[in-house]
Amino acid sequence: MSQHLFLPVVMIVASPIPGAFQDSAISPPTQGEFEDLDCGRPEPSSRIVGGSDAHPGTWPWQVSLHQGGGHICGGSLIAPSWVLSAAHCFVTNGTLEPADEWSVLLGVHSQDGPLDGAHLRSVAAILVPHNYSSVELGADLALLRLASPARLSPWVRPVCLPRASHRFAHGTACWATGWGDVQEADPLPFPWVLQEVELRLLGEAACQCLYSRPGPFNLTFQLLPGMLCAGYPEGRRDTCQGDSGGPLVCEDGGRWFLAGITSFGFGCGRRNRPGVFTAVAPYESWIREHVMGTEPGPAFPSQLQKLQSGPWDPREENCTFAQPECGKTSQPGTWPWEAQVMVPGFRPCYGALVSDSWVLAPASCFLDFPIQQPRTSDSPPRDLEAWRVLLPSHPGEERVARLVPHKNASRDSASDLALLQLRTRVNLTAAPSAVCLPHPEHFFLPGSRCHLARWGRGEPAPGSSAQLEAQLLNSWWCHCLYGRQGESVPPPGEPPRLLCPAYQEEEEAGRCWNDSGWSLLCREEGTWFLAGYRTLSNGCLRPRAFSPLQIHGPWISHVTQGAYLEDQLTWDWGPEGEETENQICPPHTEYGACGLRPKATPAGVLWPWLTEVHVTGNRVCTGILVAPGWVLAATHCILRLGSTTVPYIEVYLGQAGASSLPQGHQVTSAPPLLCQAEGGLWVLMGMAVRGSQELFAAIDPDATWIAQTVGEAHVLHPSGSPYWPPEDSDLCPQDLAGTASSPKVAAALLLLLLAPQIQG
Ligand code: ARG
Repeated sequence: MSQHLFLPVVMIVASPIPGAFQDSAISPPTQGEFEDLDCGRPEPSSRIVGGSDAHPGTWPWQVSLHQGGGHICGGSLIAPSWVLSAAHCFVTNGTLEPADEWSVLLGVHSQDGPLDGAHLRSVAAILVPHNYSSVELGADLALLRLASPARLSPWVRPVCLPRASHRFAHGTACWATGWGDVQEADPLPFPWVLQEVELRLLGEAACQCLYSRPGPFNLTFQLLPGMLCAGYPEGRRDTCQGDSGGPLVCEDGGRWFLAGITSFGFGCGRRNRPGVFTAVAPYESWIREHVMGTEPGPAFPSQLQKLQSGPWDPREENCTFAQPECGKTSQPGTWPWEAQVMVPGFRPCYGALVSDSWVLAPASCFLDFPIQQPRTSDSPPRDLEAWRVLLPSHPGEERVARLVPHKNASRDSASDLALLQLRTRVNLTAAPSAVCLPHPEHFFLPGSRCHLARWGRGEPAPGSSAQLEAQLLNSWWCHCLYGRQGESVPPPGEPPRLLCPAYQEEEEAGRCWNDSGWSLLCREEGTWFLAGYRTLSNGCLRPRAFSPLQIHGPWISHVTQGAYLEDQLTWDWGPEGEETENQICPPHTEYGACGLRPKATPAGVLWPWLTEVHVTGNRVCTGILVAPGWVLAATHCILRLGSTTVPYIEVYLGQAGASSLPQGHQVTSAPPLLCQAEGGLWVLMGMAVRGSQELFAAIDPDATWIAQTVGEAHVLHPSGSPYWPPEDSDLCPQDLAGTASSPKVAAALLLLLLAPQIQG
């Protein structure tokens, strides 16, 4: 199990604590107030992921534990001098932190003052079970003894504790509260109002069943005694970082009982990954033992009525795994999340529905005309008034409430993204429905089945969009093609910088489609993810590169508070997943790498630099792409002996051997001799001499001429290049380069003019 999944502790809401909350400012309560400790009763009156603001005084036992001036963890007041929290809040690297670094804030609602009725206590002692070592091994609880008793008030009251024999029934609706993150890596926003969320208790078997099925990072988890789960198979409501130590309470007979202590989870709010809590009941004796002699101690009322007592009932439900609620289509090419944004005076802009009220689209669709940000959320700027959003199978047009461009958005940036909020939420059904978005750590496997879909104001695809099938290329190939020499390729699990799909239709159509008009959808187990958007490359010579969307997942979920970030569903990473060493890109020109051969491309291009040179319709020569605009071919194949006129020549790229050859003609000339150098790149060593397929002329004597003519050609020098084969290498004939007896290469360089139809 990877450590970073447990996401233990730490979320700091820096909140200045006014001097008024000094211990000394508070007069100790009189003994009489404590005599029969009432517990679990908030004054009758009046986050947490997927929660909402609590009303002040609803959860009067909730405390905030501060260290270094900021909120770190939650806790529950169980007696005037005792707070129950989680051990992992206080133990770092096996060492218990000193109690005097901590203080307890009681009776607080919003962590941004005025902290009416709130007061601060220092911590006299922290007690942790001796068998606690790490969250996933259980016993994650801690008792904090306050330096002086809390001042009880309508905002400060203890919660009741369950007896050891007690078991809360599966399915009971309980509540968790805290000031923790509202989503993974998304802190509770100002003014830091206590959040509450209703969670259902899951029986041990149901929870174990969910966690036994591989989830994020292909991990499973063994639930241990003393742990308790609460949440929903579909996720979306949960506790999160910063909620730890805080209460999970269940009501019975008008009293609230502390059923659990927020401990850990896999991410927050993820599907089939409910929150894990420390069950409080099994620790009755541990708690009693440590608070013994304190008057009054915590209350363990025996009344629990409708909550069932006694041994755990094994007849609990089977577990039903929740399926992704996004990215489903019955017919690839028909995308139920395809949103068409209509701005008067412009061509429609295509985007994707990412939740029930947000559309993601390129910012460049909207940035060229002035947009005033709304002053308040209920007065949209005039410009947005006339905008309309059309959704598949959805009658009528949706109106736009808000436009949120990415902060680095510009037409050419890799962050050309904007989010549009719809005025009303749409009902998500088969259509319209939301597309799934990847988490930052998502790794789309090479060879993944993908599709191009309309994006932005791109031109409509030639033919039906259902044909735009694509397959992801290996990430080394993709990154090194566009990356710098010596750059390392992000390993699986680290966000890629680029995604390169190979799509056959374009190759077959022999033309380039508008670059920016596509997004990349990739499928895993029948679920479609928006993997990338807008191509970065221009021109048609290389695979297109898409900007990966996954790095923007946190921004999208932060803005939308409900986009469907979905876990990776396919984990068979194959050989690339096992790659442990960092992969480094070999040398290349400013136009990209040279001599890289894809391990296997879907299109079957094994030698991507090979071209077919068609000469006046009746000869076909082999050409070698040595730079984006240059092809090297044997002179004898291009020029007829004694001829003075330059023939009409066409060069076919990326499909050597696949074009329909002029009737009755074979490729006639000079296959190149390629040798694989150290580092894996391929080097052109020679060209077959006229009339032979086996005798090669070394290219080396002509390297200077090639380099002078074609500035961008990448010439490796035999000496000094670390990529040249070592002396004892048998990869290439040792004496080939520069041997006096070697026949002379007669090569011609062809300067390519792009035919009009392939100029993007
Ligand atoms: N360990 C976290 C904390 O210290 C609590 C995480 C709870 N996570 C969850 N998915 N329920 O705040």
